[in-house]
Amino acid sequence: MGNTDDLSRFVTALRTYTTYDLSDYSDRSLLRRLYKVLDDERISLDELIGNIAKDASYGDHVVEAITVNTSELFRDPSVWLLLRSRIYPRFKTQNYLNIWHAGCSMGQEVYSNLMLLNELGLYEKARVYASDINQKILTAAQLGEYRYRFNLSYLDNFDLVVNTNPLNYEEKLNVSYSKYFDIDEAKDLIRMHDFLRKKPTFRANDLVKGVNPFFVRYDVIFCRNVLIYFNAALQNKLFEVFYRNLYPGGILVLGAHESILGSWADRFERISQVYMRKD
Ligand SMILES: C[S@@+](CC[C@H](N)C(=O)[O-])C[C@H]1O[C@@H](n2cnc3c(N)ncnc32)[C@H](O)[C@@H]1O
Repeated sequence: MGNTDDLSRFVTALRTYTTYDLSDYSDRSLLRRLYKVLDDERISLDELIGNIAKDASYGDHVVEAITVNTSELFRDPSVWLLLRSRIYPRFKTQNYLNIWHAGCSMGQEVYSNLMLLNELGLYEKARVYASDINQKILTAAQLGEYRYRFNLSYLDNFDLVVNTNPLNYEEKLNVSYSKYFDIDEAKDLIRMHDFLRKKPTFRANDLVKGVNPFFVRYDVIFCRNVLIYFNAALQNKLFEVFYRNLYPGGILVLGAHESILGSWADRFERISQVYMRKD
């Protein structure tokens, strides 16, 4: 009772005093994150609710603290290899390619995709849109700077995806990191090159509202490691939003621990973590 009651008081306060509605987030992870925020801020739930009631911008701060922003360059390399070998070649004959990263966090997924598109000769055709609920994290995404030592896995993933020939895993290619980003070991920094940073359009968007923030249809939608924080009802609502905003034959890319279950499963053809809109 206590935990459920805490959660419902918190969710109700956010709905009452801010534009956020976390009612369809998965209870268990939301509660864990709520208690972490209370610990980190060293305040009680009553104080937290009082702060939200007094100042809506405190609500922004709490939602930023509660959402999980973990990301990586070329996270789950096998999905990128699949995109490289079997999915992106289908788009080669098109004049343009619309791509939406929904829940892009600090932009690692967006930059990974831009590098891959460039390697495949699709960069100029691509119009890339990226959104997240968290405005602060979008500002960081636009900056395109990451800690170097903390993120050494980024370089391994780059080699696995960009420097592997997907048709012959034995063959190693020789694309250098400096084609896309600078590494400053003294400053402990990886910095994306300007041509990549300037390409995407970033915009704040709360997926709970079920709205397409860019008013175009897409060939590819990435929504990876976001739906795991939502309950089945909200996931299904978003599968419908994604389906309706994809072109026929367009693809939805989900995270390694996510899949389409329920009624929307029949509307997509699945190839590993990639779901193609069926008509
Ligand atoms: C774990 S990160 C995933 C980042 C990236 N897609 C990846 O797979 O590496 C989850 C992101 O979803 C965002 N998010 C959570 N709830 C959201 C919502 N209601 N609308 C839009 N983005 C949301 C968070 O702010 C966070 O940046």
